[in-house]
Amino acid sequence: MEALMAISSLPELGPAQLLPRLGVAASFPFNRFGLELTYLGRNAVWRAARMLGLEGGEVIIPAYHHGVEISALLHAGARLRFARVDRAGRLDVEHVRACVGPRTRAIYVIHYAGFPQPLDALAEIAREYGAFLIEDCALSLFSRDGARPLGSQGDAAIFCFYKTLPVPHGGGLLMRTAAAAGLAPLAAPPSLPALSHMAGSMLVASERRFPSMGKWVRTMAKAVTHRVREQARHEDVPVGTQEFDPAVVQLGMSPIATRLLGFTDVEQVVRRRRANWLLLHERIGRPEQATWSSLPPGVCPLFYALEVDDKDHALHLLWSRGIQAVDFWRVGHPSVPRGQFPEVEALRQRVVELPCHQDLGPEELERVARVAREALEA
Ligand SMILES: Cc1ncc(COP(=O)(O)O)c(C=O)c1O
Repeated sequence: MEALMAISSLPELGPAQLLPRLGVAASFPFNRFGLELTYLGRNAVWRAARMLGLEGGEVIIPAYHHGVEISALLHAGARLRFARVDRAGRLDVEHVRACVGPRTRAIYVIHYAGFPQPLDALAEIAREYGAFLIEDCALSLFSRDGARPLGSQGDAAIFCFYKTLPVPHGGGLLMRTAAAAGLAPLAAPPSLPALSHMAGSMLVASERRFPSMGKWVRTMAKAVTHRVREQARHEDVPVGTQEFDPAVVQLGMSPIATRLLGFTDVEQVVRRRRANWLLLHERIGRPEQATWSSLPPGVCPLFYALEVDDKDHALHLLWSRGIQAVDFWRVGHPSVPRGQFPEVEALRQRVVELPCHQDLGPEELERVARVAREALEA
């Protein structure tokens, strides 16, 4: 009989994440002076474009993308040219070179799911043409290419914290050189939604550990906090949407969520994610179905990318068994010319995001692997 507790796509906030980490040096990117903490990663994309003066300039950007980073750049006034990404999720350096021209102001690189892009070659092209290199690390917090942290090479690096860590919101922008762009300072978001999200996350985490007691506490808490939760919902600025909302572009990270970042045991997060990815890889046992088919040293995987023939069927099967798999990037930004990037279209049709985050243990991963195998056999 399958356990009934859902396997979430994101980590929850447990008591261990509420303890300050005394005597531990901060890790990249938190140890970098000038890291700006934004409410969302897309706000950081928009600010980077403004700080680098990309208005009216051309940016070469991968055809495989979320879509909201594209909207943020367009809103900041950049003109975009899309570059090929191959079936293995690798940005085609030669196509980037072919796209670059006199109007190019930046090359925008996305490190997918923690896996590094060929940065040295891309940095060389950027240097040759006097263009900026932007590293989008929204999906690759704490990941490294060998010894180099992703995000440490670009003229600008973008981060998204809530995809990796149990924080209610949060993005980051790291600029290689301080740029004065006359941007308004970041404003604090309302704190009630962040507190409400954190409390909810803690209750889910406790229910996971102590199912019957936790469920009772959660039901009670829900009943007595009805009005506060209503108010929090009313004030909330949503995360994880597809749309870029210029009305909230100046929002920064709340002090409470910022504090949580400082409590992160980075080494443990990386170690667990790597172990979980490897376990899934072994137990699913179909390396040819993984977009990234090995785990190079230093990579902190955000998820396990499983390629399936029938994505709808696979997702429904996983969801029906309580596994919160994600329909990864099925549609891109409408400005990408249709039919021009068949490999990207294939990835969009096929990639299912399986969770491998730091909260999951061997039993849960066995369950994910079992259903994934079933989905592949169908
Ligand atoms: C590659 C990439 N960049 C930027 C973002 C924007 O991050 P956020 O959702 O924090 O705005 C996302 C969001 O999924 C993304 O996938």
